[in-house]
Amino acid sequence: MDRGSKPAVLVTGGAGYIGAHTAKALDEQGFLPVVYDNLSSGFREAVRWGPFIHGDLRDRAALGEAIAAYDVSAVIHFAGLIEVGRSTKKPDLFWDINVAGTTNLLTVMRERGVGRLVFSSSAAVYGQGGRSTQESITESAEKAPSSPYGDTKLAAEWMIAAQCRAYGLTAVALRYFNAAGADPSGLIGEAHEPETHLLPLAIAAALGDGPALTVFGQDFQTPDGTCLRDYIHVTDLAAAHVAALRVDLPPGAFEAVNVGTGEGQSVSQVVAAVGRAVGAPVPHSVGPRREGDPASLVADPRRARELLGWRANHSSLEEIVADALRWERNPRYGAGLRQVRHSIRSEVPV
Ligand code: UFG
Repeated sequence: MDRGSKPAVLVTGGAGYIGAHTAKALDEQGFLPVVYDNLSSGFREAVRWGPFIHGDLRDRAALGEAIAAYDVSAVIHFAGLIEVGRSTKKPDLFWDINVAGTTNLLTVMRERGVGRLVFSSSAAVYGQGGRSTQESITESAEKAPSSPYGDTKLAAEWMIAAQCRAYGLTAVALRYFNAAGADPSGLIGEAHEPETHLLPLAIAAALGDGPALTVFGQDFQTPDGTCLRDYIHVTDLAAAHVAALRVDLPPGAFEAVNVGTGEGQSVSQVVAAVGRAVGAPVPHSVGPRREGDPASLVADPRRARELLGWRANHSSLEEIVADALRWERNPRYGAGLRQVRHSIRSEVPV
């Protein structure tokens, strides 16, 4: 199929980690991913499967032009700030980009007649609340975000749901659990700067590319005292977006769907798995808890199966770690790409 006849999907934040993997999946499934990204945290090198537009969510004119130029029929909205810890220090920034930025996008979609949205939400909307650390989380579980980041994702969901009811928008909010791993091609993978996520930091420590890991707390009410998370391979996560785009829903429908495996892994288990894959232990020490971290976030993924016909196929901890390690070991990517970004930033202050 030639590019011109493919349905165009605007992918905000498509130069980022999950966005780039989803752009690849869209291309493979016959869509044209039109990436719209301000490169504040994404990488131009990660845009490989469709056109790139350098733009900001808060620029309505540029968003409108992008939609018109490619005759966009749906939007997948990734662009936003993601670091839980930073959100506790700069909540206003998170509200501006994650909530006000989403309002802008919805306004432009309505003006341009784009009626279909897939939104990057997060397990952070749940927090710990009154839930025991043994319970997996259904979509109707109590919402008690433990960080401003989680607040902004929940607020954006509410606003999207209200606009579905009011204006007939059709939307699916995917509540990601912990995205991890890299595309098996080795072309794209996780590269945040600064990196704050457990798996890349543990791998960098084991490879000697980064400092020793600090385990944030060992006094949680979990089997080994470290936090439990539901790690989902980014390739599985990307496939969930294509399924959410395709699912048959009436105008005005809003669905929120967990994307996880249903299995929790502790920080200590991840550290051990990285040690096995690298063949060298992960240098680490135990430090205090990180503000905003719930003890346990494990999905009940049944709704994703029922509604989207989706299930995780590549999300064993071994496969996730093996693919992440392949990416991190490539000197041009992983830690290498982060260093390039870092040196560019220090030469040109922004
Ligand atoms: N951790 C450490 N040391 C580190 C980094 C992380 O012990 O140096 C721990 C954290 O305390 C947490 C676990 O490893 O228990 C995972 O932490 P990440 O930072 O990798 O991921 P989070 O669970 O904090 O957050 C991620 C995404 C969020 C999303 C959330 C949903 O970044 O956007 O998963 O589960 F909301």
